[in-house]
Amino acid sequence: MGKFKNLISIHDLSREDIDLILDTAAKMEDVAVKRSTDLHDKIMAVLFFEASTRTRLSFESAMHRLGGSVLGFSDVMSTSAGVKGETLADTIRTVERYADLIVIRHPLDGSARVAAEFSSVPVINAGSGAEEHPTQGLLDLYSIKKMKGKIDGLTISLCGDLKYGRTVHSLGMGLSHYNVKIRLAAPPSLRMKPAVVDEMKKKGISVEQVDSIEEAVSEDVDVIYQTRIQKERFGDIREYDKVAGQFKITKKDAEKLRKDAIILHPLPRVDEIDSDVDSLPQARYFDQVYNGVVTRMAILKLLFSDA
Ligand code: CP
Repeated sequence: MGKFKNLISIHDLSREDIDLILDTAAKMEDVAVKRSTDLHDKIMAVLFFEASTRTRLSFESAMHRLGGSVLGFSDVMSTSAGVKGETLADTIRTVERYADLIVIRHPLDGSARVAAEFSSVPVINAGSGAEEHPTQGLLDLYSIKKMKGKIDGLTISLCGDLKYGRTVHSLGMGLSHYNVKIRLAAPPSLRMKPAVVDEMKKKGISVEQVDSIEEAVSEDVDVIYQTRIQKERFGDIREYDKVAGQFKITKKDAEKLRKDAIILHPLPRVDEIDSDVDSLPQARYFDQVYNGVVTRMAILKLLFSDA
């Protein structure tokens, strides 16, 4: 077993663990280009009970670049769990017999931890309900470090759907290990849960809550992390309609930023960043996508390393 048994929550990682993953990801930049056969004897199963483009394909790309094999599904209605009513526990007890590692995305909070309890092979959480997306949080931290040269000392605005956005929960908790100032910008109904804000404050970082995108996209900010309003997690579509289209970053907003500021987004984007922002030097969200490959290579290497 490697350095980590599973990767379920960013809450399970210390700053030392996160720094190890980010340093290993930097080493993977070269390996990603040259390719390696280090994991030639490993099979990764990807079980996606929810839609994905980036997470699934970057995990698969990472495993291929390390010489390993991949199997799995991304259409839940083609599985026994989706069509015949098989439990998650039974699916995991089956798949662990086919693969050396399970990567799972599931719509329910707590699903990845349940999967890990039933699995004899390592489990990686690729997104569980509205609670966590730890590998996205890690690739976001890696992106900030790679693009800004550091994390400590930065002022970072987390914007959009801070209630249902699982990436922003994982990133916020990851950032709380560093000496940063965080500005939380969301419509009142989509503010970060008080428990998460309290946990960030308990770690000693400065957290400020604001109500407008203008206060988040300002000259003193180093990193803007914009998120999509998570339509699929609203119980009442009328509540979604009330906030849809709010908290949009326009070109006029982005032009107020310093030239060395960066705009990130976990993607997919709907309309929360205008497409004419894409050509500005601060728009780095498509560069951020590639960092998912090297960060996930690092996670796979560390899960299987004997170090
Ligand atoms: N960022 C992210 O999780 O994207 P996908 O839903 O495409 O995997």
